[in-house]
Amino acid sequence: MRFATLALLATAISLPAFTATTTPAAAQARASDAVEVRIDATKPGATISRDIFGQFAEHLGTGIYGGVWVGKDSKIPNVRGIRTDVVNALRAIRAPLVRWPGGCFADEYHWRDGVGPAKNRRSSINSNWGGSVETSAFGTDEFMDFVGQVGAEVYLNVNVGSGTVKEAADWVAYMTADPTTSAGKERADNGHREPYKIKYLGLGNESWSCGGAMRPEFYADQMKLYARFVRNYHPEQGEGKPDAMLRVAVGPGDDNTAYTDEVMKTWKQHDWAWSIESLSLHRYTTGGWPPSYPSDAFDEGAYARLVKETLGMDGFIKANAAVMDKYDPEKKVSLAVDEWGVWLKPLPGTNPGFLQQQNSLRDAIIAALNINIFARHADRVKLTNIAQMINVLQAMILTDEEKMVLTPTYHVFKMYVPFQDATFIPVSFQAGTFQHGDITMPRIDAVAAKDKQGKYWLALTNVDTQRAAPVTVNVAGLNVRSARGEVLTAPKVDSINSFAAPNTVSPKPITGSVRGGKLTIDMPAKSVAVIALEP
Ligand code: AHR
Repeated sequence: MRFATLALLATAISLPAFTATTTPAAAQARASDAVEVRIDATKPGATISRDIFGQFAEHLGTGIYGGVWVGKDSKIPNVRGIRTDVVNALRAIRAPLVRWPGGCFADEYHWRDGVGPAKNRRSSINSNWGGSVETSAFGTDEFMDFVGQVGAEVYLNVNVGSGTVKEAADWVAYMTADPTTSAGKERADNGHREPYKIKYLGLGNESWSCGGAMRPEFYADQMKLYARFVRNYHPEQGEGKPDAMLRVAVGPGDDNTAYTDEVMKTWKQHDWAWSIESLSLHRYTTGGWPPSYPSDAFDEGAYARLVKETLGMDGFIKANAAVMDKYDPEKKVSLAVDEWGVWLKPLPGTNPGFLQQQNSLRDAIIAALNINIFARHADRVKLTNIAQMINVLQAMILTDEEKMVLTPTYHVFKMYVPFQDATFIPVSFQAGTFQHGDITMPRIDAVAAKDKQGKYWLALTNVDTQRAAPVTVNVAGLNVRSARGEVLTAPKVDSINSFAAPNTVSPKPITGSVRGGKLTIDMPAKSVAVIALEP
């Protein structure tokens, strides 16, 4: 990410119109707090790809070692060295996709260090992240085992910064080629006869910074080589096949769209020999750089500042989508927001290079707002990866030796499962206003979808820290008789789940009543809800 410009980005983006006002009188306040949501089922939108709920696992801190990999001889329950509690938790949120091995780490990763017998693996220093020793105990075959156990698909990031085209091509051949070839035989000799599938292939990471500080023109030339020569030999993934591997080029991490422009201009001129299918964007909520906002024990000012900054994701996507539209009005190249989330001050006493932070109700609300933005851009945004899956930044799961806790953000991902591969349904509503000091933002957010069984789902967020919101939803003609779902809230915006108190922020049932074609549901202050509209 290009850190210095993030704050500017957040302030440069205009807010959508909203109308409700705060009134002093309680009765009036109640009336003005009411929100009416209209669902326009006659205008279904794009499919909300399940891949927008993707995860990101970098060799960083305890994201892999300790968080995923404990080794076969560990006393922590594991299958072939991969911890079982974590696998089960990720299965429960139907994690569709895991990006690996980085991040900045990817551009210094040499895959040969991490294949073959454990005793022969090469160790090195992880110079990006805290100077820890990278043992390479968790390498390609362990990653494939992990995603197989989770039931997720693979997003592999190849090394463009310090690797070669041949190294990347050999790596993908190792994973995908038939055992009658040397590459496939090496994999088979390592115990994996069947080729692996790779859904997405990332061609570098942040090539404008940690990935090699390349000018857009230089990167675009590199990208063509990798897109051309890194071939997938899986029988179902060759070019032109329905399951063909999708190549993700590097795009920007700030409001400078030069990378988007150059990559898309280059793509526009591609011939039969190469192409890309996606463009990456990175955007974190940081509150400025370096991150100084704590991840626990913060006040409402910090809450308001970071929630407001998060809403800038919409303008960021729009700005890049507009550039893409110039070259690709048919939307053949998707957007991959393959790093997003809150990036906060490291927890005191931890290695600052391990990016360890707590995860609060605020972060859950921020996750929901981001997911809603991605859903509204479902026609262009086809995958995203929250940073990061375990123990790093805005994690789903925190572990400490044998202990594991599910974060508030995890619960949002679980509640939103029905949105995976559902059809986006437009909604309209007057959001009202939430104000804290001089920070003002829309108070309510809402998205809707129709799942494959024809059921409608509504996700609501009330960012207001004080006022509940009586929400009325016009469901006339939708065959809705009742509404039930789950709501996530907690005593305070900085409430967290700890190993000692793991359920402080956990979803509770919520129901609505339907009368005369209107559904009424009470959204508590500072909450996220996902509700099924039941026939
Ligand atoms: O997610 C942490 C780091 O953030 C990634 O390694 C890098 O791509 C980004 O700057």
